[in-house]
Amino acid sequence: MRGIILSGGSGTRLRPLTKITSKQLLPVYNRPMIYYPLNTLIKAGIKEILIIVAPERAGDYLNLLGSGKEFGVKFTYEIQDKPEGLSQAFIIAEKFIDSDHVAMILGDNIFEDDLADEIKGFKSGAKVFAKKVSDPERFGVVKFNNQMKAEKIVEKPKEFLSDYAVTGLYVYDSRVVEIAKGLKPSVRGELEIADINNWYLEKGELEVALINGEWEDAGTFDSLLRVQNLAKEKLADKMVI
Ligand code: TTP
Repeated sequence: MRGIILSGGSGTRLRPLTKITSKQLLPVYNRPMIYYPLNTLIKAGIKEILIIVAPERAGDYLNLLGSGKEFGVKFTYEIQDKPEGLSQAFIIAEKFIDSDHVAMILGDNIFEDDLADEIKGFKSGAKVFAKKVSDPERFGVVKFNNQMKAEKIVEKPKEFLSDYAVTGLYVYDSRVVEIAKGLKPSVRGELEIADINNWYLEKGELEVALINGEWEDAGTFDSLLRVQNLAKEKLADKMVI
């Protein structure tokens, strides 16, 4: 299993905090934000990690994280020239993924749960993690049928569909590269992760696991404030990095 941290993007909702730095380098209690998703991957025993960054911030990531030796892993860096969607990560990562499985986590997603066993237990197909939220319109959401089987995934639905958000951790087999290459940009001009998830779903190869612990996407002022407290109260003592 290889790991990707997708840490580009423009962070417009956090301006002016993100005017001179990357969102995922902002402090979250006593560590830079990216340490939390990095911790999730390292705890799962992943040793080869690709960090995808925006061109203007690449130097800062290299200065902060270096080779990975300090963390007992190996980092590779790639540039995403423009934030053209989460699925673009798998095109950028084609050589890195090769024929391995891959776990991708978003650089601004912070999980309370230890997902190591869930990641290690992956066999093939796709696995995503969902959580009930009060603001599903911010996320991709998953609609379940009566037997809690996933029926469809819709990116940021305008009308209520479900309050289960798909969180920013995705595990795929190596077919994900070819699937990503075949995608067309959505109306908002992005290669959508929901399209990859629906591809696997339609083949009956998507597993949706529900997570119990807290989860935040630290992309807004309020969620950034919440993760500070989450980190202080529940995460800081349990980090391995
Ligand atoms: P978003 O929060 O959707 O986008 P953003 O970080 O650019 O912020 P804003 O909407 O406020 O402008 O992105 C979720 C995560 O994915 C975040 O960690 C940035 C990352 N990302 C990329 O690295 N490349 C991309 O093309 C996109 C869309 C997101």
